[in-house]
Amino acid sequence: MNIAMTPTMKAIRFPTYGGPEVLQYEDVPRPIAGPGEVLVRIHAAGINPGDKNIRAGIANKQFGLTIPFPFIPGNDLSGEIAAVGPEVTAFQVGDLVYGLTMNGATYAEYATAQASQLAHKPPFMDHIQAAGVPLAALTAWQALFDHGHLEARQVVLINGASGGVGHFAVQFAKRKGARVIGVASGRNEAFLRELGVDQFIDYTATPVEKAAQNVDLVFDAVGGKHGNRLLQVLKRGGALVPIFWGEYSVEQAAAASVTIQDIAWVQPNAAQLDEIGRLIGLEHVHIHIETVLPLAEARKAHELIEGGQIRGKVVLRVAE
Ligand SMILES: NC(=O)c1ccc[n+]([C@@H]2O[C@H](COP(=O)([O-])OP(=O)(O)OC[C@H]3O[C@@H](n4cnc5c(N)ncnc54)[C@H](OP(=O)(O)O)[C@@H]3O)[C@@H](O)[C@H]2O)c1
Repeated sequence: MNIAMTPTMKAIRFPTYGGPEVLQYEDVPRPIAGPGEVLVRIHAAGINPGDKNIRAGIANKQFGLTIPFPFIPGNDLSGEIAAVGPEVTAFQVGDLVYGLTMNGATYAEYATAQASQLAHKPPFMDHIQAAGVPLAALTAWQALFDHGHLEARQVVLINGASGGVGHFAVQFAKRKGARVIGVASGRNEAFLRELGVDQFIDYTATPVEKAAQNVDLVFDAVGGKHGNRLLQVLKRGGALVPIFWGEYSVEQAAAASVTIQDIAWVQPNAAQLDEIGRLIGLEHVHIHIETVLPLAEARKAHELIEGGQIRGKVVLRVAE
């Protein structure tokens, strides 16, 4: 029997908010592609801190996000088209694809996705690498260029430079011709210098505001209670683009003639993913995969990302 025809599949679900222990590996109904959608047989699924924030109820408390239980997490996938829904012309069964799907539920053997949110997986990336790209790389791209309007020869400070989003942001900003200041803990200095940062700041040893100044754009991938300190490094007319909740004083920003933008929430964008894939193919951009775990061990993956000290990406292997 064609595996794509079985009515059930393995997936990770959680029945309630909680710690990594609420994640369960279960048999669940296989989804069906609706109009404009494809069904993807997933080979690998990327893990993102947002998955943990949803699981722990943080996204619910902080942003009012509600989810139906039991809930299958995940938005990043790389795999093969198993079926196409009505009105889909861009893909055929058997095509290899990757992307950020707003349908979610990618911690599973199959997931549906809007065809328009997927891109063809380039042959030079395997599924593990490809699953690590979409959400993090698109966040970096959109925050730097769509929201931050970064230009060549500007100075950008990337806070959280060694993480999933940050390590892409460093490379995209360098590629653009910007001067890049990367902020992370000392253990990531060599990694970030290799990715091209012009200046490295170890936040555990030096306050960022003492080590940088005259910055055009701050890309804050950390947020939290110390957000305000980052305002001090901006030059007049500079801007801070956050990608998560942080405490930033509007009064302090106004006094310094700098701007605090709204949180740059990532959006699926197949054209941008094609461009990012092209840069990876040209070896202008490298994906760092820190850990690969089987789907059944998603709980362990969430334990790993809990502390926010990941270098690059964590990916779930779903199929060989
Ligand atoms: N807006 C959106 O659409 C969107 C999309 C993706 C992610 N996000 C959010 O953005 C944040 C980053 O995501 P991610 O995937 O890059 O996370 P990640 O992979 O967990 O990376 C976090 C990185 O931040 C560094 N870090 C931790 N504390 C720091 C501090 N106080 N100062 C400077 N660097 C610090 C860590 O380096 P060390 O180990 O060296 O400390 C680590 O490499 C998360 O909060 C996530 O929820 C938002």
